[in-house]
Amino acid sequence: MTSPTSPALRERLARDLESARGRTLLLTDHDDPVLLAQHTPLLSPLVWDLAHIGQQEDLWLLRAGDGRREGLLPPDVEALYDAFTHPRAGRARLPLLPPVEARAFCREVRGRVLDRLERLGPDDDPFDFAMVVSHEQQHDETMLQALALRPGAALLGPGTPLPAGRPGVAGSSVAVPGGPFLLGVDPAAEPFSLDNERPAHWVDVPAFHIGRVPVTNAEFASFVTDGGYRTPRWWSDRGWQHRCAAGLERPEFWGPDGTRVRFGVEEDLPPDEPVQHVTFFEAEAYAAWAGARLPTEVEWEKAAAWDPATGRRRRYPWGSAEPTHELANLGGAALRPAPVGAYPQGASAYGAEQLLGDVWEWTSSPFRPWPGFRPMLYADYSAPFFGGDYRVLRGGAWSVAPSVIRPSFRNWDHPIRRQIFSGIRLAWDDAPGAR
Ligand code: AVJ
Ligand code: FE
Repeated sequence: MTSPTSPALRERLARDLESARGRTLLLTDHDDPVLLAQHTPLLSPLVWDLAHIGQQEDLWLLRAGDGRREGLLPPDVEALYDAFTHPRAGRARLPLLPPVEARAFCREVRGRVLDRLERLGPDDDPFDFAMVVSHEQQHDETMLQALALRPGAALLGPGTPLPAGRPGVAGSSVAVPGGPFLLGVDPAAEPFSLDNERPAHWVDVPAFHIGRVPVTNAEFASFVTDGGYRTPRWWSDRGWQHRCAAGLERPEFWGPDGTRVRFGVEEDLPPDEPVQHVTFFEAEAYAAWAGARLPTEVEWEKAAAWDPATGRRRRYPWGSAEPTHELANLGGAALRPAPVGAYPQGASAYGAEQLLGDVWEWTSSPFRPWPGFRPMLYADYSAPFFGGDYRVLRGGAWSVAPSVIRPSFRNWDHPIRRQIFSGIRLAWDDAPGAR
């Protein structure tokens, strides 16, 4: 993992740290009761995320990951922010730092981190700084999930405008011919890729078809009105069990009458927007009903990154240009996915659109290491979760920062979770027939 640190790279990392922190402070700029409350047992109180962001930055960047060295917090306070010892549901009962102290702690850590970044020499590896940026951005996303579940009046406003969709793209698919493809990335190509994205290795992928765009609210509503939630045949055994035990009738936040609640705002369901807040089991059932299946994560990555004309990977689905507002809905300001067809310029070599941004897309794949996996400094980021009851999600939602997402990025969650900004892209073995 070596990548010499030029002044330009140092500036980029300083900017990425800064924009992550801007977002963290915006998402925690609320009255103390909002920050201290446990809005849902699924997520932490926001003030826990806030101090945990600083604690992890202190650990990885100021102590090189050595937890036996004392950091800026007393050890008993630091221990409150260990995600492995304190389950999310109980975090509001811990003697957490009050918001004002949590902010001051984060500020103190950041000052020292920027001093260290300033002094990085050309032979120092800047990877750990990027890893910490990714960590903070991922917690910004979990804070958005908590704010979405918080009852009461809207705190974040309606979100920024998005480009219009295109008619006729919903339900269509693109073909991906069979053949070898280079899965995953190496540090040489993607120095800031996380451990589970590495190393790059060749895989043979049989031909398949994949949705040009994610499944829309209108499409998913047809499944609901067609009795999809009452018909066990569309569901896996486990999926049906969960559907019954949890009483699922429609996606999270949907009302029975064609409306939804989004960050405290009630509005009509936009028909052409990708459906979000579905579990893996709902995604799987929808796919069965539609005569399709979910893609594997390998298929997903090939459709997103492979360029058959050059026999090489693209850095982004559309090529090498960094993401912009014309290419993908990322960054979190929109507070929702864009309608399907909104990003024709963002299409991959095979013609699939909206692969990055909008919604996380469930795949059928359990979370496993690529052959040759080696843990990064934060060794418990991926490895403890390999082989667990998780499915991989790909692409990143509207809530994800552009600086931390790539076609190789792998997210994972339990198949029953749907507070995440999760949606569906279909796949087929053969060209989808008359549907
Ligand atoms: C990669 C989103 C599954 O939230 O559990 C944050 C990210 N890991 N702090 C999670 C993470 C440690 C992780 N996910
Ligand atoms: Fe964390």
